Amino acid sequence: MNSSAVSAVSAVKCMGAVLPARVGMNVRDLEIPVPIFLAPMAGITDPPFRAICREHGAPVTCTEMVSAAGLCQHGRRTLAYLDMAMDPGPTIIQIFGKDAVQMAEAASICAGTRRFIAVDINMGCPVRKVVRNGAGAALLAKPDLAAEIVRSVKDAVALPVFVKIRSGITSSSIVAPGIAARLADSGADAITVHARTAAQGYSGTADWRVISAVKAAVKVPVIGNGDVRSASDARRMMDETGCDGIMVGRAAVGNPWLFGELRTWWDGKTVPAVSIPPADRLAIAMRHMDHMVAFKGSEEQAMKVMRKHFIYYTRGVPNSVSIRPAIVRATTRREIETLVNRLSA
Ligand SMILES: Cc1cc2nc3c(=O)[nH]c(=O)nc-3n(C[C@H](O)[C@H](O)[C@H](O)COP(=O)(O)O)c2cc1C
Repeated sequence: MNSSAVSAVSAVKCMGAVLPARVGMNVRDLEIPVPIFLAPMAGITDPPFRAICREHGAPVTCTEMVSAAGLCQHGRRTLAYLDMAMDPGPTIIQIFGKDAVQMAEAASICAGTRRFIAVDINMGCPVRKVVRNGAGAALLAKPDLAAEIVRSVKDAVALPVFVKIRSGITSSSIVAPGIAARLADSGADAITVHARTAAQGYSGTADWRVISAVKAAVKVPVIGNGDVRSASDARRMMDETGCDGIMVGRAAVGNPWLFGELRTWWDGKTVPAVSIPPADRLAIAMRHMDHMVAFKGSEEQAMKVMRKHFIYYTRGVPNSVSIRPAIVRATTRREIETLVNRLSA
């Protein structure tokens, strides 16, 4: 289905005011009424983080990238990425690899769990270890193999197949529009574009013109990604690029209530200008911690992951810098709670 038919932005009169009325995205027969996505982030988008984002309104989340090779070997640690007990809401599983047969088998293992709404193929990871191995962003330079992977995964699963790409490898080779068209022809049902090159990593600004160019090159839905930090960024990205959905990554870290703001905007309501009070953000941080303890089974293990989150949650909170060293050393819930209470007092 041509996504523009279902994702057009129109204006409706409401109580005399003109408000933007947005309609959802259809990826084949998968309806996504609010196409706002939590980005896949390795080391971040584990079930506790997805759960806390969901509680604040994230409509669709993505897992961290999962190794196709690991899935095919049925590695215990890799299979743990398929755990959805904590957050059974709409979730896309992302896999990475370079071998079409292996990717198909991995996708089939994921689909077999019946826990995911779609499979996403990572063609954007710039991490050296991944790229050197021929996966992630390396596939942008190998369109034949990339297309073969998409075809194999499509043949293996009935779920919609998404592909997440970057603009290109370097700024001198912006391949996203061409490769997106090739992947869509090979069966990709939706394309997510992180509008940075692999060489950029996460620095510099995302060039949203590449998202517009991909949108013009394909008929399948396009999800824009890169530098959305607020509802006004999301609106601007949609308006400037015509993309069908928005994906948010780093701005949600230590800030999961951003999804509430995005949904308020999506619903055409006024987004409040006031920021969330420190006491409330710290309470949310503690709830995230509780999810993590439940997930990891021990406070010490939970704290290993939560340290970085607490640093983000306390960013901008008065006096937070003074407790950072103690946050990094904390190993129990009680310790972290005492520190957090000191800030919210
Ligand atoms: C810590 C971290 C881990 C990431 N891991 C993944 C990943 O596993 N798969 C993926 O496709 N992108 C990954 N990304 C990229 C994000 O999904 C996203 O494309 C990028 O952060 C740009 O979006 P943003 O500006 O909203 O953060 C990661 C980004 C960060 C910061």
